[in-house]
Amino acid sequence: MRKTTEGLGRTTTRGRGPLLAVGAVCVVVLVVAAVAVLVLPGPAEEPGSDLPGLAESHGIKLGVAVAVDPLRDDSDYQDVVTDHYTAVTAENTMKWVHVQPERHEFDWSGPDTVVDFAEKHGLDIRGHTLLWHNQQPEWLAQGFYDADELREVMREHMEALLGRYQGRVDSWDVINEPFEDGGPELRENLWYQTLGEDYIAEALRMAHEVDPQARLYINEFGIEGGGDKADALYELASGLLEQGVPLHGIGFQGHFVHGDVPEDLAENMRRFTDLGLDVEISELDVRIAEPVTDDAVSDQAEEYRRAVEACLEVSRCVGVSVWGVTDAHSWIPEWFPGYDSALPFDEDYRSKPALGGMVDALSRGRRARGRPVRRRVRNR
Ligand code: G3I
Repeated sequence: MRKTTEGLGRTTTRGRGPLLAVGAVCVVVLVVAAVAVLVLPGPAEEPGSDLPGLAESHGIKLGVAVAVDPLRDDSDYQDVVTDHYTAVTAENTMKWVHVQPERHEFDWSGPDTVVDFAEKHGLDIRGHTLLWHNQQPEWLAQGFYDADELREVMREHMEALLGRYQGRVDSWDVINEPFEDGGPELRENLWYQTLGEDYIAEALRMAHEVDPQARLYINEFGIEGGGDKADALYELASGLLEQGVPLHGIGFQGHFVHGDVPEDLAENMRRFTDLGLDVEISELDVRIAEPVTDDAVSDQAEEYRRAVEACLEVSRCVGVSVWGVTDAHSWIPEWFPGYDSALPFDEDYRSKPALGGMVDALSRGRRARGRPVRRRVRNR
């Protein structure tokens, strides 16, 4: 009761008892806390949290295909990208139909969003894509142009797109899917019909004139496990290089089905790197037939691990990119009804075993790189 100075100075044994007890409790609490900090493990770290560092330690890019809207307004989506990857590919917004929906009318809002985001966070950028039979605007797809006019259309588009991002976009898929779906014939797309098979060499030369620093790619699917289509692409690439055409790399898209991921991916990629080309696994996903079981999701980890390992085994494999940020954004359910769960993050943005599979691959030793990958300063 007494709060006088006198009172405080005259503490009796009876008054000291509770104070000593409180002090002892505090000491015990502090000691326990210190022991916990020193001895016990910290909060479980998310398995993929060091992926960018691991990828960089191997000198490879670990990329992801991004969509524009969530990149603008979904901070969880942005965090998944910046916390786990070192590169981005625009999934759709740099395609012809979006960039030049009407002749001479360009829309840079989407591409600028992707490029600005990447630069802000120190991510590399794959440019996707220039010549493709899909996602062409109506004015182009109608095919009203003769050869010279079509060359002019091609040049205008390249100058606008490659020119705008010169020095900012590191590599371009100049030619996307030049072979028929089942291969091995060249696809009779608009470019082929109008310019003949030489359109590939012409486009690569033109792209190189517009952006001499960019690494120029042919990007294809269904070639990962070898076969006729892969052989035909190999012949095409060898022929182009013999003619001195500026082709720098091959994108192995890597749209796989769970249970059917090729064992010999590294071997197939090495064939191309032996020609002096870079390779990338450019659009990795592993779709699972529904109903998607826990076992399938956990086995999928092994398939992601194997894909990343294949890249690590090939000295000129410059990176692996997965095709979409989460299962909520994947193209799979729309295009392959009856399949789902193809990506390393689920629809609620939670990491899946597949992410651990990639961590696993990247945690197993470092390799000597052939050509170092240009790194940006990361700013996550
Ligand atoms: O643009 C329309 C939009 O106006 C409309 O509101 C919306 C309604 O669904 O659809 C939008 O179009 C979608 C388009 O992507 C966006 O540009 C289409 O429905 C959709 O089918 C289309 O799919 C894309 C597909 O390419 C087109 O062929 C996928 O998202 C994209 O992942 C996929 O990517 C390709 C690579 O470029 C090349 N390799 C194969 C890969 C998978 O097909």
